[in-house]
Amino acid sequence: MKRKDYLLATDLDNTLAGDPLALQGLLNFFNKEELDPALIYVTGRHLDSALELMEKEQLPAPDLWITDVGTAIYDADTLTEDTEWHNRINENWQPSAILRMAKNFPDLKRQELPHSKRISFTVEPGNSKTVRLFQENLELEGIPHYFVFSSDRDVDLLPEHSGKGQAVEYALKRYAAPHAKVLLAGDSGNDSQMLSLPFPSVIVGNAQPELNDLPSHPLIYRSTAHFAGGIQEAWEHYHMPSYKTKPIGS
Ligand code: GLC
Ligand code: MG
Repeated sequence: MKRKDYLLATDLDNTLAGDPLALQGLLNFFNKEELDPALIYVTGRHLDSALELMEKEQLPAPDLWITDVGTAIYDADTLTEDTEWHNRINENWQPSAILRMAKNFPDLKRQELPHSKRISFTVEPGNSKTVRLFQENLELEGIPHYFVFSSDRDVDLLPEHSGKGQAVEYALKRYAAPHAKVLLAGDSGNDSQMLSLPFPSVIVGNAQPELNDLPSHPLIYRSTAHFAGGIQEAWEHYHMPSYKTKPIGS
């Protein structure tokens, strides 16, 4: 990974994955242009669920996994967890205090997860007021957390200094070539922190409305194309601005 000149750090569900033809198009494009980017998959899923998706959607194997909304990082060859990241974010993590508070909010349905690296819930659509009230109460009680609400459905409570953005920033410093040309890609609320990093980012065309809240910024490209097609559009925009106009045969 340290030797690669390009790097794609991308969300999976509804970003890299979701349209098999668009995915094939993106992979063909990388091949044809001999880009061979390092791949970091940055997902809300836990590791087993992410590996299942990779197999089902026939995604290429990544170099690094960032799972559970940025609360765990795994080497993709050995699937060993980065313990430095784990220790760094877990110092102040109080899942039982969060669960106690959640008992006051029966609309929050706890997601079943194989660990407590994060505490996640789902709500029925239209429950955003309850979700905000829950967040306010956690803040009033001083329970440390990082709060993520995605797709009008998923509520993730993460250790304070974690999240996809913090994890990607750490992973780039630790694992990537310092000169690598980067693209970050996502489609929903749990990608917001990552897409706000000072690297070229893309919001794919099929993104959730919550990403409309991100500012207009030269490092946040909003693509017209959906799913992996949106990644390709942004790649051309940032890293190959003359690609579309290149004469045939050159
Ligand atoms: C994925 C995860 C889910 C999480 C959601 C939002 O769908 O499977 O647990 O709540 O992303 O981050
Ligand atoms: Mg997604």
